[in-house]
Amino acid sequence: MHEHRLVERMLNILNEASRKIAAGSDVDVDLFEKAIDFIKTFADRCHHMKEEGELFPTIEQKGIPKEGGPIGMMLHEHSIGRGYVRGMEEALRRYRAGDKSQAQVLVQNARGYANLLAQHIMKEDNILYPMANRVLNDADRKKLDTRFERIEKKEIGEGVHEKYHHMVEELESGAGIAQE
Ligand SMILES: [Fe+2]
Ligand SMILES: [Fe+2]
Repeated sequence: MHEHRLVERMLNILNEASRKIAAGSDVDVDLFEKAIDFIKTFADRCHHMKEEGELFPTIEQKGIPKEGGPIGMMLHEHSIGRGYVRGMEEALRRYRAGDKSQAQVLVQNARGYANLLAQHIMKEDNILYPMANRVLNDADRKKLDTRFERIEKKEIGEGVHEKYHHMVEELESGAGIAQE
């Protein structure tokens, strides 16, 4: 849930940047490059991998069904999210190569991602995580903690929370978004 709060701040930044483009501004290429890096590394490789690789399989073993239930839906949404990110990357690449019409495609994908993830996070915070909390015992929590730490070290390296926290603060102040 703690990681969700940082992801939400990045969604705000994406929405604000999209609003500016829709109002006629040029694409802030640097901002979108950073946002894509954040989403791929922090939101997907760090956070979603903990869910997909550890949390979901653990609660599935404890009786929360995968197919036709909230876990299946969350996995499906992770994959739709990856599609939006590919769309953003491709649009940004073409935009940088000179095709200015890609700004609109970028905005569509950025807004699609932000809407999807905002809903996704709400469902996890209010439905799936409370369900998980009910089925996990202290030993399960300890085991998950250890495995989450291993994922962070192995997949993204130490110090990554600090790096992306700092990135969010920098982009918020650049975009004139009030910091929490
Ligand atoms: Fe998720
Ligand atoms: Fe999540």
